[in-house]
Amino acid sequence: MQETMLSITVILVIALAALFLWVIRASTSARPNDAVQAGASRIRTPLIWGMLIFGVIITYRTLSPWPHSVAVDGTPIVVTVTGAQWSWDFKPKQVPVGTPVVFAVTSTDVNHGVGIYDDGGRLLTQTQGMPGYINKVKYTFTKPGTYRFLCLEYCGLAHHDMIDKFKVVAR
Ligand code: CUA
Repeated sequence: MQETMLSITVILVIALAALFLWVIRASTSARPNDAVQAGASRIRTPLIWGMLIFGVIITYRTLSPWPHSVAVDGTPIVVTVTGAQWSWDFKPKQVPVGTPVVFAVTSTDVNHGVGIYDDGGRLLTQTQGMPGYINKVKYTFTKPGTYRFLCLEYCGLAHHDMIDKFKVVAR
């Protein structure tokens, strides 16, 4: 998903740059102003509609794979996650594959961000660990393996080191 969005962003930036160049060239060309305006208004409406439709499609297609909390069917396993400068504590430390998991996240000191990543470095889901609160995020792992927890919010000197592993095992 990240690569796709990067490609789309690059393409759109190039398209935008081309549009700016075209506008600059058109505005500095020797053509009379009314001819330039007629040309611009001819493409304006289809351009705006095209961008609108494109935007709606992209928004619709990319909303569901985003790392939002997702609905869980069946009885979930609850994993308590406690963040503290600068480590994580999980209970339990591993879960079976294909079982809905609710991560109940808190912190003993400051706010921490919790990102769960697969072995390819892809962010699967995330929430905040906040002192005095328990934030819940639901996720079902579809592949066994070693997943990583990374802190996503700057929480002090060793924030970058706030990484731990979490195992998802075959049933
Ligand atoms: Cu915990 Cu950054």
